[in-house]
Amino acid sequence: MRRILPSLLALAALAACKKQDQGSGMMSPNATGPIVIGEVGSMTGTEATFGLSSANGIQLAIDEFNAKGGVKGRQLQVKVLDDQGRPEEAATAATRLIASEHVVALLGEVASTRSMFMAPKAQQAKVPMVTPSSTNPAVTEKGDYIFRACFIDPFQGYVAATFAHDNLKLKKVAILKDVRNDYSVGLAKNFVDAFTKTGGQIIAQESYSNGDVDFKAQLTNIKAAAPQALYVPGYYTDVGLIARQAREVGITVPLLGGDGWDSEKLYEIGGDAIVGSYFSNHYSPDDPSPRIQEFVSKYKKAYGGQLPDSLAAQAYDATGMLVDAMKRAKDLTGPSIRDALAATKDYAGVTGNITLDQNRNPLKPAVVLKVAKGGKYDFVTKIYPEGMQPETGSGGDAAAGGTKTGSNTAPAPASGTTPTPTTAPATGATSSASEASNTGQKQGVPSAEHPKK
Ligand code: PHE
Repeated sequence: MRRILPSLLALAALAACKKQDQGSGMMSPNATGPIVIGEVGSMTGTEATFGLSSANGIQLAIDEFNAKGGVKGRQLQVKVLDDQGRPEEAATAATRLIASEHVVALLGEVASTRSMFMAPKAQQAKVPMVTPSSTNPAVTEKGDYIFRACFIDPFQGYVAATFAHDNLKLKKVAILKDVRNDYSVGLAKNFVDAFTKTGGQIIAQESYSNGDVDFKAQLTNIKAAAPQALYVPGYYTDVGLIARQAREVGITVPLLGGDGWDSEKLYEIGGDAIVGSYFSNHYSPDDPSPRIQEFVSKYKKAYGGQLPDSLAAQAYDATGMLVDAMKRAKDLTGPSIRDALAATKDYAGVTGNITLDQNRNPLKPAVVLKVAKGGKYDFVTKIYPEGMQPETGSGGDAAAGGTKTGSNTAPAPASGTTPTPTTAPATGATSSASEASNTGQKQGVPSAEHPKK
């Protein structure tokens, strides 16, 4: 009896709420007061910099929108929950934000595995979710309420493989992947597929599990295969340790990796062992593009001189893309925001223009960065997907960007036309300009490599 009563009350409350706001997600936002957006991230744990940087980027964008009057006359507010880097916690946090905080939308997670745990909760409640940085294709496949602001791993794997082949002239590469991480497993496969297509060979494949601290056995096997580079598509804490132990067992070749390396902690953990290694990423703060430089200086000003990593930039863009959709949506119910998000076209983000395809994924360029002494990341090259032109103009203000409703100002070439050269020279790089100037590789993803628009 005692147990039945509260649940009956809850049901009655739910029914009343549904009546008031037809067509909304499970629970509807209040019609007055601030609009609450939920955020789920790893604010603590071995990937804490992912959550912390993302939260900074989100807050910066929100502050800008609020300064310009908010959305539909209301201010925006972000409610952040820490998942401690644990997938189950990410799911619980999403549920809590939806059921107790009545958020209109969710931002997060960074890690693909955790986004995949959150996504069914958002989908079921019809609350749109935008992941800033989860790159595994399966994330947005969870349902039509799930969106992302970043490129996906078939492209990222292609970028690393093309760079390994064209720039570094590599033929034999070994792989060390994290089998408990969907991102790592997926990206390893995407790299293998793309590198093999260049005529390269994968001469050893080893695995570990996120959180392991001893990688010597795997690294000893890898050393015996004598690769020219070691591809490690993992997260920064593991990669830092792997780099150290790789040098200890006598592996001297560079490590290659993906966006999961991006943290100021990578060098703190890896030290000189990681210097000279390369990874693909979403953007470089050294890029001279006005929209990037404007963002970098605003971020530094807001956060005590800190340089925004790609998590911060992606989170800033994801927030801008979401708020842009909320402005265009006919109301703030889940289905209306979802429809507006799905129509995102030419949103001028810091990390590139965002136009979502029918799978709710954008096509965006990637950069390759080289870890330098002291932990700085030198810009080496920028690689665009097929048919995409470098972005121009400013747009470093989330509140100034926006999906064009009229005609497209920078139309993409019709499919079937020859892709234009799409490597941006490293004009703004500090120490790698010479290296970048002799890149000269062909760029652009063959359409077979990338899902159709
Ligand atoms: N792309 C990674 C994933 O999907 C997350 C990540 C993005 C990490 C950007 C660092 C920087 O798991």
